[in-house]
Amino acid sequence: MAARPYMSAFLLLLVVLEFVTVMGVTFPQCRPIVADDRDQIQFALNLEFLEAEFFLFGALGKGLDDFDSSSAQGGPPPVGGRIADLEPTVRRIIEEFGYQEIGHIRAITRSVGGIPRPQLNISAEAFATAMNQALDTTLSPPFDPYANSLNYLLASYVIPYVGLVGYVGTIPNLIRKTSLSLVASLLGVEAGQDAVIRALLYERADETVRPYGLTVASFTNRISEFRNQLAMCGVKDEGLIIPVQLGAENRTTSNILSADAGSLSYSRTPPEILRIVYGSGSERRPGGFFPGGGSGRIATLLLH
Ligand SMILES: *[C@@H]1O[C@H](CO)[C@@H](O)[C@H](O)[C@H]1NC(C)=O
Ligand SMILES: *[C@@H]1O[C@H](CO)[C@@H](O)[C@H](O)[C@H]1NC(C)=O
Repeated sequence: MAARPYMSAFLLLLVVLEFVTVMGVTFPQCRPIVADDRDQIQFALNLEFLEAEFFLFGALGKGLDDFDSSSAQGGPPPVGGRIADLEPTVRRIIEEFGYQEIGHIRAITRSVGGIPRPQLNISAEAFATAMNQALDTTLSPPFDPYANSLNYLLASYVIPYVGLVGYVGTIPNLIRKTSLSLVASLLGVEAGQDAVIRALLYERADETVRPYGLTVASFTNRISEFRNQLAMCGVKDEGLIIPVQLGAENRTTSNILSADAGSLSYSRTPPEILRIVYGSGSERRPGGFFPGGGSGRIATLLLH
């Protein structure tokens, strides 16, 4: 396929980027942005909305508007959400996560004010497109996140982790103590959600994702690599099974919690996050789960 040589060039670029980052030089596209506490915390609402809608629809077949419609601040309802065919335990877990996201949206709104929910696309097709891009192929039949527990968990692998690294990214730039304490409290729950999803997937790491003939571990590695490519700021995302040189203390290949070589959380800036969730590699080109772009000052300014 014609895309392959570009992919190799891209991977080479990534290695260079990582080297440069390690050497303490940061590329302009990876620098922290300048924004006040309110704008940074409101930016996180974009991901909280995405998580709330995907989890609530997946577990229960209904979304934020059925539970707390005022928190959408007049934003349009998401398109494409459906109830997923989940095992009872997975459904309970995802249902709980969905309610937690409602709480997060409320906590942020009370603290710094809300923003309108952006247009979200959580259709099976949007996830299928993302999976095809990540795997650099066209899966047949198309990947359906709502078809079973394993597919749903793989689709979920995509989301809280991005929220988590975004929260870590805001911390050095926050000024007020109340902002820091709010972000730390949100981060705690977000990290917990990511860990549960990754642990459930890890139990099935060697299982083949039917009917595609690829293991769960390979899916997670490819999704993580793809996010690194889109974000363009080196390796901040790793799959469930990694080379021992990247594992905790260089002693293990399991990677149930994604962290850097020193076991500290990675962080991402808003432009990096938008490049990922837009699926376009550009904070100026919306698409993917956010067909109209993110909401709030930061996403809007970056768009223009
Ligand atoms: C949602 O995403 C799918 C797949 O990319 C696309 O075909 C569909 O038009 C999108 N819907 C909206 C409303 O953006
Ligand atoms: C792990 O190995 C790398 C080199 O491969 C080294 O730079 C790093 O310090 C090691 N980390 C620990 C915690 O031993």
